[in-house]
Amino acid sequence: MNEFTWPGRQPYRGLTSIEATAFLKQEFPQVPHWTCWMGGCMCSLKYIVSKDFRSSGTVGSWSWKRVSTSYPVPAYWFGADLEDLENNESGIKDNGMWDDPAFRKGDQWVGVIDVRGAKGEQFMLFSFLNAKGDVGDAYYASTQDLYLLKQFARDVELHFKGGLPNKITIDVTGGHDITIKAEDCEHVVLPNDVQNDIEQQTYSFFKSRDAYKQMHLRHRRGFLFIGEPGTGKTMMVRHLIRQCHQRFTPSFFMLSIRKDTDQDAVGSIFARASRNAPAMIILEDLDSLTTESKISRSSFLTLLDGVSEQEGVLVIGTTNYPDRIDPALVHRPSRFDRVWHFHLPDYELRRKYLELVFKVLKEDVVQKLARETKNWSFAYLKELHTTASIMAIAKEQSCVTTEIALKAFDLLGQQFQDGKKNHVVRSEEPTLGFAVV
Ligand SMILES: Nc1ncnc2c1ncn2[C@@H]1O[C@H](COP(=O)(O)OP(=O)(O)OP(=O)(O)O)[C@@H](O)[C@H]1O
Ligand SMILES: [Mg+2]
Repeated sequence: MNEFTWPGRQPYRGLTSIEATAFLKQEFPQVPHWTCWMGGCMCSLKYIVSKDFRSSGTVGSWSWKRVSTSYPVPAYWFGADLEDLENNESGIKDNGMWDDPAFRKGDQWVGVIDVRGAKGEQFMLFSFLNAKGDVGDAYYASTQDLYLLKQFARDVELHFKGGLPNKITIDVTGGHDITIKAEDCEHVVLPNDVQNDIEQQTYSFFKSRDAYKQMHLRHRRGFLFIGEPGTGKTMMVRHLIRQCHQRFTPSFFMLSIRKDTDQDAVGSIFARASRNAPAMIILEDLDSLTTESKISRSSFLTLLDGVSEQEGVLVIGTTNYPDRIDPALVHRPSRFDRVWHFHLPDYELRRKYLELVFKVLKEDVVQKLARETKNWSFAYLKELHTTASIMAIAKEQSCVTTEIALKAFDLLGQQFQDGKKNHVVRSEEPTLGFAVV
């Protein structure tokens, strides 16, 4: 057995297959058999745990959780080989190296994970350093059901290939990945010039890699969407994801902002995106990153500056309150070089939207509603449609009548006056604001 020690750490040990089973038998006496599974020919298996040191996650319809064991390195293996370690060519024995987040960004994992399927299937999977000191193709599974393992491997493979053909997977740091339907089409109502400009700038970024190179420009851009709640920022992001997926198949990354989100989490999302470029990073509700996480305003800005070093990454941020991030954010081109303001809809846009959702209402009723909903956001107008539809169902009507639409308007209009206007409830997990499929 190979054994290596570096300062202040437990030994790294490579295991033969016999040693691996002996280890598992000792740790999990309740498991009668461990199956040595060469599932690793699907190389994606190596990446299951590979994100930002997380201890749980999802892959397709499967969820996994780390199981703690006495295996010496419940961490990521970065792929250096043992000779390098022995000769100290990798520099790995340097003091403090292990604490450096850049070092920890290995792509392969070792240790045990507990895997659960949607129908209650369950097994554990052990990935270990083999006697040569690297993560090979052999895994140990606590089940003998090879069909189950095969299904899992297939789903892992699909997941890391960008998901099933009609689905787009967004890799979420600090939360569950989000999968959205590629073929869904949402009608974003925005002034034509704004929508065209955003689309063209986005497509041109992914199209023009070579042109950037020729002009000696870094292939990296940052867009910022600013606006009140419910004005279509997230909807536009979804629209761009679908369109870009269809045209350029970039990778998509997103950050779930939580109280414990720290600089490492943000650093890791940028690093992963640049490794998987071309990529789009979506940073929703940017202001909450500096108010609701461990990240200070200044360290966040420093991180953003660092991104300008990366290639092939488009960062799209959204915020209601840009001033909370940095009063100068909007004017500092190195961070977000294009900024679009999403305003509350004017009369024309409200009319257009109401016409779209209230398909059967007469023109003059739509116009009346559009006139009387000044300062309502699109989300609030959507609420008007939902309320009216629910009222129609209650009255056993097959569609929203004029009478019902006006009644719904009275009801919501009252709420609006009472100060609950444009109220949007935020969910804990990012869902990109739409049904996760
Ligand atoms: N421009 C728009 N066109 C059509 N529908 C819209 C538009 N803006 C908002 N909506 C409707 O309102 C819902 C919420 O909008 P969205 O989530 O995009 O708002 P947002 O600007 O991201 O708000 P927040 O700042 O609270 O995140 C959308 O799912 C959609 O139904
Ligand atoms: Mg939003």
